[in-house]
Amino acid sequence: MNYVLQTHQLTKQYGSHAIVSDLNMNVKAGDIYGFLGQNGAGKTTTLRMLIGLIRPTSGEFELFQESFHGNRIKALERIGAIIEYPGFYLNLSAVENLEIHRRLMGIGNQESIDEVLTTVGLFDVKKQKVKHYSLGMKQRLGIARALLHRPELLILDEPTNGLDPGAIREVRELFLKLAKQRGITFIISSHLLSEMEQVANRIGIIHKGRLLEEIDDKTLQQKTRRFLEMKVDDDQRAAYVLEQKLKVTDYQVAGTGILRIYECLDQTDLVNKTLTDQNIGVKEIVLSRENLEDYFLKLTGGDKLA
Ligand SMILES: Nc1ncnc2c1ncn2[C@@H]1O[C@H](COP(=O)(O)OP(=O)(O)OP(=O)(O)O)[C@@H](O)[C@H]1O
Ligand SMILES: [Mg+2]
Repeated sequence: MNYVLQTHQLTKQYGSHAIVSDLNMNVKAGDIYGFLGQNGAGKTTTLRMLIGLIRPTSGEFELFQESFHGNRIKALERIGAIIEYPGFYLNLSAVENLEIHRRLMGIGNQESIDEVLTTVGLFDVKKQKVKHYSLGMKQRLGIARALLHRPELLILDEPTNGLDPGAIREVRELFLKLAKQRGITFIISSHLLSEMEQVANRIGIIHKGRLLEEIDDKTLQQKTRRFLEMKVDDDQRAAYVLEQKLKVTDYQVAGTGILRIYECLDQTDLVNKTLTDQNIGVKEIVLSRENLEDYFLKLTGGDKLA
């Protein structure tokens, strides 16, 4: 298997405080890897180690199957990154900002600037000052800058933070396009479960500095169970009736008047009839699937995301 990144017992301590502990991450070529964890979980600290901004306390990692510390520069040439917020000269235009970056880095040419601006959908507004850009546009400009030297791996720290739903969708579509058309591998950190679920094909869940699980999207779908969720006027009596009449044992009361049963999934009509025959009011029955949030809660033993 062609790994773009593998970490081995990667650890960062500040004083006696372990911020990241024994992390073993595996990112394959072509992955959109969602690095998921709540605030303070250790995401930014990990990503900083991966691009050489801080040194691990212990452990090691390979990028493009070579030890990072053996050949840092060669690895970094193949990576684009945005850690926390991308900074720009606000009084300069997008083109001018990218031109400064291009010259400083000694990469590309004028056409490569137009090309990346086209890729992220900012070509038509390239001469506007960045201070007039929305947050979503700035985020896309950050991605354009990270793309200038044609990286094979993009490392993005919470790229959708602060964006409205429309901008989040645009950025997500951009990631999918870049992955598909250019074969770029992504490591994207986030605390947004729903967001990761829509874009990532692999998810690494970090909690209190430890990687709880790495899971691909198909396995995740299999592991997140399906259930019938119903809104009833009396959840206790409804549960009793289902136990007695249909021998349902695998269920939970998910809120006042809300019952989830993990059985009889293809027997909606029977469930409905059984309840209404006992004069229980049924307002709604829908087939649903546990989402990543439910899954996360199970893994972390109840700690919610921020
Ligand atoms: N330089 C530092 N010295 C001491 N502690 C630090 C340092 N940098 C980060 N920490 C601590 O490490 C923990 C993890 O921080 P980190 O920024 O990696 O989390 P994160 O997952 O990126 O969180 P967020 O979602 O809020 O960005 C936090 O408790 C933070 O206070
Ligand atoms: Mg962070």
